[in-house]
Amino acid sequence: MKILAIESSCDETAAAVVQNGTVVLSSVVASQIEEHKKYGGVVPEIASRRHCEDIVGVTNEALNKAALSLDDIDAIAVTYAPGLIGALLVGVNFAKGLCLAKNKPLIPVHHIRSHIAANYIAHKDLKPPFICLVASGGHSHIIEVKDYTDFTVIGRTRDDAVGEAYDKAARCLGFPYPGGVYMDKAAQLGDESTFKLPRPKVDGSKYDFSFSGLKTAVINLLHNAEQKGDVLNKNDVAASFQKTACDILSDRLISAAIEYGYRDVVIAGGVSANSGLRKKLAQDCEKNGLNLYLPPLELCGDNAAMVGSQAYFEYKSGKVAGFDLNAVASLPVDFDCN
Ligand code: KG4
Ligand code: ZN
Repeated sequence: MKILAIESSCDETAAAVVQNGTVVLSSVVASQIEEHKKYGGVVPEIASRRHCEDIVGVTNEALNKAALSLDDIDAIAVTYAPGLIGALLVGVNFAKGLCLAKNKPLIPVHHIRSHIAANYIAHKDLKPPFICLVASGGHSHIIEVKDYTDFTVIGRTRDDAVGEAYDKAARCLGFPYPGGVYMDKAAQLGDESTFKLPRPKVDGSKYDFSFSGLKTAVINLLHNAEQKGDVLNKNDVAASFQKTACDILSDRLISAAIEYGYRDVVIAGGVSANSGLRKKLAQDCEKNGLNLYLPPLELCGDNAAMVGSQAYFEYKSGKVAGFDLNAVASLPVDFDCN
């Protein structure tokens, strides 16, 4: 089954053709980052306009790269939630138009589910059940993936997502948006033991996260130093932040894997590209006899190949949308739109 997948939930316009959930025939991503950089973050209105301009070209390129026409495609998948509403609407309406014109089934895909599915493309042996950390600019979730379309969230952030904390700390250090990757590079040059940063526990759930305190601690550290006329070494600040964030993520994920009895541990989302997180998890999983699955770097951030992968499993479980499908800005990963 060949699925044409479309993704426009944030600042990447992407299209891909994926066969049977795991074979990527083409994947095209048009990033808007350069445009948003000058504002220090994503401007929703600009994102929507950019998607409108790019979506036809990106989709044609994906079809051309796969050497296929729309007639060869069996179904069209689209990210419908969660994300920036105006951005999502571009993809959803474009996909609906294609389905209507070509009489194809429309498969709605949840963005977090698709990040998890990026791992099915990279690891052909990976099958649910497993436990997954989804760490991105909008989410920090520990999820039991019981089956391809059956999820239970056992931990989530109470405030900032870890990617958001990375981006805000990066901004204070003077790095461009999105700062996660710059923090990661700086961290590799710094001394992680220089600054002691907070590792808050959250009342009520041992697997929930809170990253706003960590972000604020970095802001205060820099502010206090500035007031005293001190100049802190950016690499040391980034390294201390990275050590703290990665320890928190790894400790909770590994404890959850052990308590819930999962041998296979998976990570997904933009922050899963982080070198410190990948290294820490590799060590901790080995120590605890757990199998770790990491997405390749090109599948960590937003792309449409992951949407095409998850769409295949959604379709097999009977999920097809009507033309009344709407975009949804915020939607739990375990919620089904049908
Ligand atoms: O999954 P994603 O591309 O978009 C969302 O769905 O949010 O994640 C983007 C987030 C941003 O916060 C970005 O700074 C972060 O992922 N990120 C990183 C790294 N690469 C991307 N954070 C830390 N280290 C990295 N290497
Ligand atoms: Zn994402």
